Amino acid sequence: MCPKQFIDLIDPQSSAVDTEMARALLKEFAAAHIYRSATVEELVLKDEYFRRPLRPEDLAFIDFSTLIDRDSSSSLSALATHRMLLCINDAKRIRLPRNREREWDSFLEFYSDRNRVLGEMMRPHLEYHAFHSFEESTREVAGSLASLVALALETSELRNEAEVRQARLVASQPGGTEKQRMQLVQFFGLAEERYVALQNIANAWLSDVPEAATAAQTWLGNIGVSKERVSAYLGYPIGSHSCWQFYLAGTMATANLLHYLCSSGRNVFQSLGALLFSRIAQDAFLRQNSRWMAEEAGDPMNPEALKAWIQSLVTPVANRWGPSVWVDVCSGFRLSALMQDIADQDLRRQLSWISGLDRYRRLAGDIQDKIDREQIQIDRETFVEPREMCSTTHVHDDHRLVVIESGEMVFWAAPGMRICLSPGEKILVPCQRLHGSSVLSEVCVYHQPIIPEDWINPHIADTLVSALAH
Ligand SMILES: [Fe+2]
Repeated sequence: MCPKQFIDLIDPQSSAVDTEMARALLKEFAAAHIYRSATVEELVLKDEYFRRPLRPEDLAFIDFSTLIDRDSSSSLSALATHRMLLCINDAKRIRLPRNREREWDSFLEFYSDRNRVLGEMMRPHLEYHAFHSFEESTREVAGSLASLVALALETSELRNEAEVRQARLVASQPGGTEKQRMQLVQFFGLAEERYVALQNIANAWLSDVPEAATAAQTWLGNIGVSKERVSAYLGYPIGSHSCWQFYLAGTMATANLLHYLCSSGRNVFQSLGALLFSRIAQDAFLRQNSRWMAEEAGDPMNPEALKAWIQSLVTPVANRWGPSVWVDVCSGFRLSALMQDIADQDLRRQLSWISGLDRYRRLAGDIQDKIDREQIQIDRETFVEPREMCSTTHVHDDHRLVVIESGEMVFWAAPGMRICLSPGEKILVPCQRLHGSSVLSEVCVYHQPIIPEDWINPHIADTLVSALAH
């Protein structure tokens, strides 16, 4: 690589980026042993923080040249991008292995110069791919204390309403247990990453503005997130990225966005907006779930307290660096709110699918009947896989049936889920829904017909509506 190619790579807005070279570097990054695809025993990882299955084989064909937007926010490209960014961000902070004997080699590889330098080389490219279109759509042109307070109060209401709807969906049957695990894995699995990103500002440049730093620390110093307690409640481990395979792209995007905003000079004041939004979002989540987490929930802020906190957090910064700070803070806040909205949408669709799995199985049968009855020629992939062949969780960018011809398969779309599929059985996997599988028999032969959008969209919409009606 010549210096010019390298400079183009770290300036992603440059039209001269060689996308195939970028792909080759991503493949090099993901070729580390810790990033290999998972075995069936690795569906849930215990004390293996550095083991991050990335499905490196997918990097040969994923499109990283088209910026992620709302429609593609849960695509395979988004999932791969955010899994890699999460690894790159986590590698900035040394964390010792819990189990020296088992984890030492992975620990050394995770923090190796090769892993960290390759990751940092690719970070600008991945962050541009992940966030640029959203940044463009949330850029503010004006801002003031009054407009920021109004935005925060309005958003606080909206977050409370969103959490009420989500709690209703989680509590509905069927699939209540799996849905609750999925929801809590999203929130608590990455809570530490969000906290670490926010501490980057509180402990760094903000400490030059003592009043603002104190305001930040009054919240950051009191985030009481106990993954052990949540794991005990769920009867399922969620710490140390044990449920790595079940993080949705939307969830990882919210954590990676905080690292993006809180680690660069360009976004220095936007990061205050991200911090403010994070507090509002966390308050709303914990308030809704406080029946069993009273200790963590604390007292929700009333509007007056919220206004006072904003004033003590941002006003001293604006007084020192000028009124454009308010514009940047509003932009960072709006961008954070948008990414949370997208994460909610991703989770809502996954939960709705989990709720409606029986219906999706019946729908798969109806679709297969239609294909057979009308003798429709349809694109399909066929797989012949041996016992314990495992598919690390992934999404498809199209709707697919999984139709078992012979053998047995176990299929999952949430922590703890096990759906056994026998010959003749089938399931519909909607576009961009996270899932994985493994083979239970000596050999399993199965087909994946690719289903046109207009065949199933009305049915998916019905399922979503009925799930939300609970
Ligand atoms: Fe699949």
